[in-house]
Amino acid sequence: MARPDPSEQHRSAPGRRAVLRTGLLAAGGLGVATVAATSPTSPSSAGLPAPDGGLAERPGSSPGTGASGTRSAGDTVAFRGARQAGVVDAPQPFASFVGLDLPPGATRETCARLMRVWTDDIERLMAARGPLTDLEPELAAVPSRLSVTVAVGPGFYDAAGLAADRPAWLAPLPSLPIDRFTDDWPQTDLLLQVRADSPVAVAHAQRRLVVGADPLAVQRWVQRGFREPLTDTRPGLVFRNQFGQVDGTVQPRVDGPDDPLVWIGGDGAPAPKGLRDGSSVVVRRIAMNLETWDEADRTARENAVGRTLSTGAPVTGERASDPPDLLATDGLGFPVIDAASHMRRAMPAEPHERILRQPYSYDDAPAPGARTNTGLVFVSFQADPVRQFLPLQRRLAEADLMNIWTTPIGSGVYAVLPGAQPGEVLGAALLA
Ligand code: HEM
Repeated sequence: MARPDPSEQHRSAPGRRAVLRTGLLAAGGLGVATVAATSPTSPSSAGLPAPDGGLAERPGSSPGTGASGTRSAGDTVAFRGARQAGVVDAPQPFASFVGLDLPPGATRETCARLMRVWTDDIERLMAARGPLTDLEPELAAVPSRLSVTVAVGPGFYDAAGLAADRPAWLAPLPSLPIDRFTDDWPQTDLLLQVRADSPVAVAHAQRRLVVGADPLAVQRWVQRGFREPLTDTRPGLVFRNQFGQVDGTVQPRVDGPDDPLVWIGGDGAPAPKGLRDGSSVVVRRIAMNLETWDEADRTARENAVGRTLSTGAPVTGERASDPPDLLATDGLGFPVIDAASHMRRAMPAEPHERILRQPYSYDDAPAPGARTNTGLVFVSFQADPVRQFLPLQRRLAEADLMNIWTTPIGSGVYAVLPGAQPGEVLGAALLA
C-alpha cells in the first residue's frame, strides 16, 4: 500500500470522491442531495473559539496554563462553584470516564449518601489531599489540574423516586442505523469524568472514587482517553484524533456568549428541578478502523471530512478559521466540499443545533489477532441533547462519509449536576 504524500493536492480530481459517494449511496440510499447549499448558521465564522480558545478559567481556579502557556504539576482546579469543573475548561490530556450503576434496591438515601461521599472525596482530591480513607495520599499530592465531574443517568432518577422530575432528554438516544452497540458500554446510572495533566493523577482519583463509592455504586465500565501530549501546552479545545484530523475547530464560545448552549438555564429559562447551572453530556464510544483508513489516500481522507489534514482548513480555504465555501465547485461541477462530508453534515441546520465537543482518543490493547483497538471517546456537552445533539447525530447517521471508517459501539446520556457551593453537597437541590 502506498503511503499518502502529504503534499498531494488533488482536490479537483473527482475519482476518489466519486467512488466514495457511489459507495455511500449504494450502501444506504442516502439523501445527500438534501444538504443545503449554504449554511447561514455555520459557526465557522460566528462561533470560533477566541484566540485563547475562548476558554475562561473557573473563578477560583489556579490557572490551567500561565501566560506563557506553561503548566505546573502543582496546579489545582477549584472544586467549589456554581458550575462543575470539567465542562468548559481546556481539556486536560488524560481522562477516564467511569460508568457506575446503583445497586438493586437503591433509594434516595443511597443516592444522597453517595453524593456526600463523593463531594468530600472529590473536593479533597482536587485540592491535592487524598480522601480520608486514602491509604496512598502521596499519590494525590501532585494534582496536575485534576478535575472530576459527576453526572447522573435515568436510573439515578428512578432510584431516587424522582422519575417525574427527570428531564425528557435524559434517556438513551434513539437507535440509529449506524449503531453497533456491544454489551460492554451501556447507559449507566452514574458517570464520573476524571481528567488531569497526568495519568497518575487520573488513575489514583478514579480508583479512590470507585472504592469510596462501594457499595453505594458499582463500577460497570471504564473508558480511558488521551489528547495532546503533555509537552503541548497550548490552551484550547483542538486536538488531532487518531485519523490525524484536526478535531474541535468549530465550537460554541465558552467564554460567555454561547452559555445557553452549554449550561442549563444559561439563558434564564426555567430549568428542570436541581439542574440549573448543570448541563448534559453525551458519551459515545466510536471505533475508528485504522486498517481501512490506511487504505484511503489523502484526497479521500480530506474529502471525507471536508477539511485538510495538515491545518484543518476547509478544503476551500487556507486556515482552519476560514469559513467553508459550500457553493464552490470544481472543473467538473462537483461541489468541492462533498455534500456527504462530515463537516457539512454536522453543520447546524438551525442555530441551536450546536454542541461543545470535548472528545478523547482511545488506543487500547487489540484483541488477539487484531492489530488495533482505536477510536474516539466522543464527549459533547449541551444544555439539551435532544434539541441540540440529536438532529445532527441523525444527519450523520443518515449520510456521512466518515461512517465508512467509524462505528459507534456504545452510548450514554447523562445530566451533569450543578456545582457545589461552599458547604453544599453535589446534587443537593435535586435530592431535596
Ligand atoms: C470518530 C468519530 C468522529 C470523528 C473522527 C470526528 C471528526 C471531526 C473533524 C475532524 C471535524 C472537523 C473539524 C472541527 O470542526 O472539529 C469534525 C467536525 C464536527 N463534528 Fe465530528 N467527528 C466524529 C464524530 C462526531 C459525532 C458523533 C458528532 C455529533 C453527533 C460530531 C459532530 C461534529 C460537529 C458539530 C462538527 C463541526 C461541524 C461544523 O463545521 O459546523 N462528530 N468532526
